[in-house]
Amino acid sequence: MIRSFVRGSGSALPANLVTNAQLADQVDTSDEWIVERTGIKQRYIADEGETTSTLATQAAQKALADAGVDAKDIDLIVLATATPDNTFPATATKVQHALGCNGCIAFDVAAVCSGFLYALATADSMLRSGMAKRALVIGAETFSRILDWEDRTTCVLFGDGAGAILIEAEETDDPAAGVISTKLHADGAQHDLLYVDGGPSTTQTVGHLRMKGREVFRHAVVNLAEVLGEVVENAGVSIEQIDWVVPHQANKRILDATARKLGIDPEKVIVTVDQHANTSAASVPLAFDVARKDGRIKSGDMVMFEAMGGGFTWGASLVQM
Ligand code: ACO
Repeated sequence: MIRSFVRGSGSALPANLVTNAQLADQVDTSDEWIVERTGIKQRYIADEGETTSTLATQAAQKALADAGVDAKDIDLIVLATATPDNTFPATATKVQHALGCNGCIAFDVAAVCSGFLYALATADSMLRSGMAKRALVIGAETFSRILDWEDRTTCVLFGDGAGAILIEAEETDDPAAGVISTKLHADGAQHDLLYVDGGPSTTQTVGHLRMKGREVFRHAVVNLAEVLGEVVENAGVSIEQIDWVVPHQANKRILDATARKLGIDPEKVIVTVDQHANTSAASVPLAFDVARKDGRIKSGDMVMFEAMGGGFTWGASLVQM
């Protein structure tokens, strides 16, 4: 059978670091409130000239170097973002051109914070079907550009960044190798709990992020615990066999509550929300890259990715490194 194997990863952050204390100079908030309610201590905010595509390109270049693969050998780019450079064309095509692999398949996926899971599932399916051999799966965002900087209930929660992984199709007899099992879900009835109040077909504006935080929180814990359970069951593994959980980094309290609900050792949960805040589709590959590069996630490890975001959309994927 054909399976997708992770060959490399990379990530990128804007140069401009903004601490909670700096934010408190602009809006009515405090370092104490943000840390206590979310675990966030700082975030990176894109400067003029830095866009979703420039961050995505940097992350992709690092993933290529890490895997030792030439850009010309990439035949698929799937980029998850809710903050594209332009309404069209897809940001993936700008990244493709910047990398110099023109001609390969390149498109964006829109599933907000779970975008990386949707992108990974799409690329994995295309690799398994033989449509492509080597794919860059990227999550990249500049959420700072869709925040209402006068709304303290949302603007303190997000940051900008990008993460990328390179996956490659390979024949194997081992059903527990590479991307093992992925489950995705969506529920459009929850649209109004987390959305952007603009768009080309409605207001002809970009709009700002709107969120009912408390309700999102409640749904997140329930949905994430459920989908993780589905993946574990489908893969025929136990929770104890998972070496690392790389969750979407929205809020430390969501990470803790989900781990508690499933009986996952908190030591196995990769946490970067304190450093990066919520970078939406970028958060899972960013956290993964951090934990791979600092030596925690190693070859052979069983890693669970999981995320939930606007839509709602949510999903999880079990991958053997
Ligand atoms: N600084 C100071 N005070 C604030 C701030 C702020 N930045 N924001 C809100 N407050 C105040 C509120 O006005 C409220 O005051 P009041 O009691 O006088 O009315 C008080 O703090 C409590 O507000 P709540 O919204 O009830 O606080 P809560 O404990 O629910 O925390 C939060 C809010 C952090 C948004 C939380 O609900 C959350 O993280 N939800 C999940 C949302 C999320 O992460 N979404 C991301 C995308 S989806 C996903 O990734 C899962």
